[in-house]
Amino acid sequence: MASDSKVFNFSEVAKHNHKKDCWIIISGKVYDVTSFLEEHPGGDEVLLLAAEKDATEDFEDVGHSDSAKEMMGKYYVGKVDLSTIPEKPNYKPPSQPAALQHNQSSGSGSAVKILQFLVPLLILGLAYALQYLRKKD
Ligand code: HEM
Repeated sequence: MASDSKVFNFSEVAKHNHKKDCWIIISGKVYDVTSFLEEHPGGDEVLLLAAEKDATEDFEDVGHSDSAKEMMGKYYVGKVDLSTIPEKPNYKPPSQPAALQHNQSSGSGSAVKILQFLVPLLILGLAYALQYLRKKD
């Protein structure tokens, strides 16, 4: 385990993003996992996908064992300057049009509910009226 704590910028770390040179960031620490790619029980693909971003969540989501966490020390190369890590990309809050559509549909929804109530009543009324007229004849 490297004992010096070199601090990298995110962009420096992100350059190491291929099979022959792969660094990942977990909990603000940088790991050179190039030699581990082939051995990683979860496969090399996930590690390569974890490069060029903060992989902390991905790593935690898997629920790695304590022995996996101990292994990490072997690949530690330094820290990352957290202020250089870009915001999470592609988060889209629920879009405005969808919210508007919802409101509109709930407005017209109440009209439909009234009709659903009135139409059977009208049919019933008609049926009674017809019966009444027939009896009269
Ligand atoms: C230096 C970093 C890492 C080390 C030393 C490491 C080590 C290990 C080890 C030892 C296992 C076997 C299961 C266990 O003991 O928990 C494992 C499984 C796995 N790892 Fe990693 N890992 C690292 C990073 C990552 C990252 C960044 C991801 C991204 C998603 C990842 C995804 C997985 C997956 C999907 C499995 C398979 C889990 C399963 O099938 O049960 N690992 N890893």
